[in-house]
Amino acid sequence: MAEVQDLFKKIIAHSKEYGFVYQSSEIYDGLGGVYDYGPLGVELKNNIKAYWWKSMVQMHENIVGLDSAIFMHPTTWKASGHVDAFNDPLVDNKTSKKRYRADVLVEDFIQKIEDKIKKQVKKGIKRFGDDFDEAKFRATDGRAVQYAEKIKNIEERLGQAMTDNDMVALRDLIVELEIADPVSGSKDWTDVRQFNLMFSTQLGNIAGAEGKLYLRPETAQGIFVNFLNVQKTTRQKLPFGIAQIGKAFRNEIIARQFIFRMREFEQMEMQFFVKPGTEMEWYETWKTTRMNWHKALGTSPDKLRFHDHDALAHYANAAADIQFEFPFGFKELEGIHSRTDFDLTAHQEHSGKKLQFFDPVDNENYVPYIIETSIGADRMFLAMLSTAYTEEDVPDAKGGTAQRIVLKLNPVLAPIKCAVLPLLKNKPELVAKAKEIFDDIKLDFNCQYDEKDAIGRRYRRQDAIGTPYCITVDFDTLEDNTVTIRDRDTLEQTRINISEIADIVKEKISWKPVLKKL
Ligand code: GAP
Repeated sequence: MAEVQDLFKKIIAHSKEYGFVYQSSEIYDGLGGVYDYGPLGVELKNNIKAYWWKSMVQMHENIVGLDSAIFMHPTTWKASGHVDAFNDPLVDNKTSKKRYRADVLVEDFIQKIEDKIKKQVKKGIKRFGDDFDEAKFRATDGRAVQYAEKIKNIEERLGQAMTDNDMVALRDLIVELEIADPVSGSKDWTDVRQFNLMFSTQLGNIAGAEGKLYLRPETAQGIFVNFLNVQKTTRQKLPFGIAQIGKAFRNEIIARQFIFRMREFEQMEMQFFVKPGTEMEWYETWKTTRMNWHKALGTSPDKLRFHDHDALAHYANAAADIQFEFPFGFKELEGIHSRTDFDLTAHQEHSGKKLQFFDPVDNENYVPYIIETSIGADRMFLAMLSTAYTEEDVPDAKGGTAQRIVLKLNPVLAPIKCAVLPLLKNKPELVAKAKEIFDDIKLDFNCQYDEKDAIGRRYRRQDAIGTPYCITVDFDTLEDNTVTIRDRDTLEQTRINISEIADIVKEKISWKPVLKKL
């Protein structure tokens, strides 16, 4: 556990040191749950968003894009159910006076049991060596089975309490499991209360409830209220989808685990409108499609799993998460929800405007059903950073070994695609040649020119930010127009002609092989 915490701390420190993520308003001691993306962070995040957009909009003739406003008519949120039901259960510890999300306390408790199972598995690996079969072990080892049953039972009770909105049952569960305050160790809990997560503000000079505006807690509603606009202007037929990337805001009771749970974050959501009765088929299709999206980037399948929901949100008739193994355990990365016709019907009722599709094949009007895929850009960022962060031993110049930190990001996501390095900075002819190369290839992709420090240190710096290639300009370059190209992962250095650089890098960072896997 300490090891895991250490790794997470290292990733956070690395993010700051290299300009990926900073705490917001740091000079004022920060603002809880709000973060800023630095020069490399914004590149990585943009690449993640580009991957999502390409896979949704560019790859599907029947999915189109939208960029709707953050502010919406306040009735939107009444209709969607967010005013009445977008709550988290909170509980205070009377001794420490600390506030927690009651369901997260239970989830953390479950995680501890999961960790115990993992310990058992480790023992099994030691005992059985190469013959070890993890699935069989989990199904037959007495302790592992007992722990798994306990988890199942707790998850069912948690799910039921959340679905029924039963705060007494939730408190009973916390007390029964003897969950203690992680800060004080006290088990003296208040009642569990519901807390609405929406931020609100005031429109212009209109005082009171009339002018109350909400910062959207999900981007989805902007898509729903535009359903007919988009359908009519694009002449799409069902099934079709609308994709959107944008900011969302939630007054999380406890924003924590770095950019995992933030108060201001970014969502990438796609709402897929289908004929009623076909929604379960499409739900399964989108579950598979979205899992493939993650795997196509090269993320290890061991780090990804589905988690089907026992507790369903007020709008859903089926829901699953794609969970990723973050440094602090398997947690939700993306949600796939079958939202029925709940949203469109509610907006019809509240607006008095029809939100229906005329089906020319069946010659009938109906309110479409919706399958939603929703992933946080920030969570995806954290997933990519934590899976890419690697500490490893590599050969050093003196024949020994040295440790390096390398971000093994898929090259399509790397913030900088190629670095151009003159071997020595005090040789004007090398600097001039390196700058000439840089000025040419920067027209093709994002590159960096770096002349500071010894070449080995510059390589390490580029490894630490995940740059796939480094180009070194030396005295031979001046003679024969060749450079050394160094591969981030293999460390192989090859001599190539300057004219080949752009094509080699372009091939490495091409989206095509990734998109082809989808
Ligand atoms: N429209 C459906 C919806 O918003 P959700 O499960 O609440 O569903 C979808 O959120 C995704 O948004 C999550 O899987 C997660 O990746 C991201 N997300 C939600 N709350 C977040 C937060 N506080 N900070 C960062 N990302 C968050």
